[in-house]
Amino acid sequence: MQRFDAIVIGAGAAGLFCAGVAAQRGLSVLLIDHAEKLAEKIRISGGGRCNFTNRELDPSTPQRHFIGQNPHFCRSALARYTPADFIDLVRRHGIAHHEKHKGQLFCDRSAEDIIAMLVAECSGGASGGSVVRWQPCAVKAVRHGDAGYEVDTDNGLAQAPQLVVATGALSIPKIGATDFGFRLARQFGLRLVEPRPGLVPLTFDGTAWAPFAGLAGLALPVEVSTGSGKAKTAFLEDLLFTHRGLSGPAILQISSYWKEGTPLAVDLAPGVKLADALLHAKQTASRKKIANELTAWMPSRLADAWSAGDAVLERPLADIPDKSLNALAQRIGRWELNPNGSEGYRKAEVTVGGVDTRDLSSQTMEARQQAGLFFIGEVVDVTGWLGGYNFQWAWASGFACGQALQSADTGL
Ligand code: FDA
Repeated sequence: MQRFDAIVIGAGAAGLFCAGVAAQRGLSVLLIDHAEKLAEKIRISGGGRCNFTNRELDPSTPQRHFIGQNPHFCRSALARYTPADFIDLVRRHGIAHHEKHKGQLFCDRSAEDIIAMLVAECSGGASGGSVVRWQPCAVKAVRHGDAGYEVDTDNGLAQAPQLVVATGALSIPKIGATDFGFRLARQFGLRLVEPRPGLVPLTFDGTAWAPFAGLAGLALPVEVSTGSGKAKTAFLEDLLFTHRGLSGPAILQISSYWKEGTPLAVDLAPGVKLADALLHAKQTASRKKIANELTAWMPSRLADAWSAGDAVLERPLADIPDKSLNALAQRIGRWELNPNGSEGYRKAEVTVGGVDTRDLSSQTMEARQQAGLFFIGEVVDVTGWLGGYNFQWAWASGFACGQALQSADTGL
């Protein structure tokens, strides 16, 4: 039996970071992961360049960029470890990076730089702390008794007074995602918010989608929304047609909010007063076809798709009644779609839902009814927008927990 101050299960973004924070405070940490490769999700993230945080994150309004039954839960951790803190760390490690669209920060070279940085942070430095990593190593069982948490693994038994669950959630099973964290939460009596895939492409019924299947590969900026009134959520981003449905940042973002059985509305010409523009064009370019006119606002393949097969809309613009032009402008401005599902966890970047935040301390991530048991990162019911928000949650929750863990000897 080997003893440590803390055992962290899951050496992904949150687990690696938390282990490093604890080791630098002098703690001895055991970090266990069942996957062959270290932090594979970081490696493949951001197209291989890891979108590691977002400058637009404002911890005072977490509900703007985070979803969960209690979107305010993440406020404290996000305020105590901010994007600026992580950017400082990245700078100290000399990692070249750049800002892209909407505050998103990426490595110039490779996501490997972030992994190497997290591993270096695990060295413990002058504090005397350390991180021992068992990987690949499967966890067979977790028990809790008088001596704390006992973890039965392929490498034998390990024991610690504190156990951190950082095993992520269900997205991308082929690189090691499991429901381990959810099962462990249940084992210790914590509640779960029903998980579902988030940041995921949406699919449509084959027959209904047939007219659009030929548009696969086409991308354009749109406004996509779900819900109405105060419950309306909208994103102004790029949409991508796929063979089975829709993807691209606009769809990935809205997918985290979309509820099965409800429609989506897509404005294919956002910011354009399309009815006025078409009526004006009718007077000035009367012999033109409507599809030609629409190419001012959308790719020609899509413009063709809106008029194809409609005898009235295939006439020269001058011969199309105003009523039909108005109706077309309305349909383009509010294209109502009914997805039949999503591409699922196979393609989802995140899992929405997870360990119920009512059962965790927002200061430390410790279970309220189970001393010494912590949950951090994606396993918790906190889901960020696309754009570096999910990694920032992994760092911030890992930091909150890493700061709260105590040394078994000194109670530090
Ligand atoms: P993470 O999944 O990183 O780590 C969990 C670890 O636990 C894994 O190493 C796994 O092997 C291990 N594990 C699981 N079950 C286990 C078990 N039973 N026993 C032992 N170990 C176990 N976010 C962002 O902010 N910017 C971005 O650019 C991207 N890009 C991106 C691309 C793709 C393709 C995906 C799938 C996801 C993203 N994300 C992202 C999301 C981001 O990767 C995600 O939110 C974090 O990795 C979550 O960090 P965690 O540490 O919680 O889980």
